[in-house]
Amino acid sequence: METIEPMIESTADGSQTLRHPLLHDTYHSMRGAEGESHYIFIEQGLRAWLDRNAEGTESRLSEGNESPSIRILEMGFGSGLNAWLTWKEARDRGLKVYYETLELYPVAETVASQLTYAMDERFMALHRASWDVDVPLDENFVLKKRRCSLVDCRFDTTFELIYFDAFAPDTQPELWSLEVFSRLYDHLSEGGMLVTYSAKGTVKENLRGAGFVVKRLPGALGKRHMLRAEKPRKDE
Ligand SMILES: C[S@@+](CC[C@H](N)C(=O)[O-])C[C@H]1O[C@@H](n2cnc3c(N)ncnc32)[C@H](O)[C@@H]1O
Repeated sequence: METIEPMIESTADGSQTLRHPLLHDTYHSMRGAEGESHYIFIEQGLRAWLDRNAEGTESRLSEGNESPSIRILEMGFGSGLNAWLTWKEARDRGLKVYYETLELYPVAETVASQLTYAMDERFMALHRASWDVDVPLDENFVLKKRRCSLVDCRFDTTFELIYFDAFAPDTQPELWSLEVFSRLYDHLSEGGMLVTYSAKGTVKENLRGAGFVVKRLPGALGKRHMLRAEKPRKDE
């Protein structure tokens, strides 16, 4: 498989990010890669979804005696940082996760292995997992990395949560379009959420145009805003 070799850069909270060799954007905020990922996707995404859906989750737990479960779609596997943080959170909470992630430019393993996160062997397990198949990484976490472009990827399941982590709308406007958000909306379950770091006007407009109820939240690490967009339940 063809891979790219992004440059490794340090961010203000001491954690590392990558810089894309063709698009020149960094994969995270220079204010702090790990801090930003954790705040936007874990705190405002996964935890918010769990808080909102705790009732259903608990009843599923008591009925089936099974772990609570969630299907997450990530736009942009990149360095694997969001996937790694999600897997950690899933283990801490006893949560079953199906994690599907799209990537058009897979990062070379030789680069991933130089990141400090690679000290945790689970981080490299994410990178070494095969592409385009379901890979159970433990009893609670199934990873499916898909080598495809968001623009023409088709999905054969629905998701409860979407981590929308594309490069900036100014760099790749085609990924933040009404058409893309409409397709994602169709593959989100009722009560599902999409979280993203961008709160740009056109992004909000396109999310609303696709049917989402959009909420502006304080951004990560001193940034003004981020967005959480929800697909309302029919009874709401
Ligand atoms: C902001 S970075 C994602 C960071 C990543 N979530 C992480 O935790 O490191 C955006 C990612 O989108 C990928 N990408 C760019 N264009 C794409 C496309 N059309 N379809 C799928 N992925 C794309 C880039 O290669 C990059 O990995």
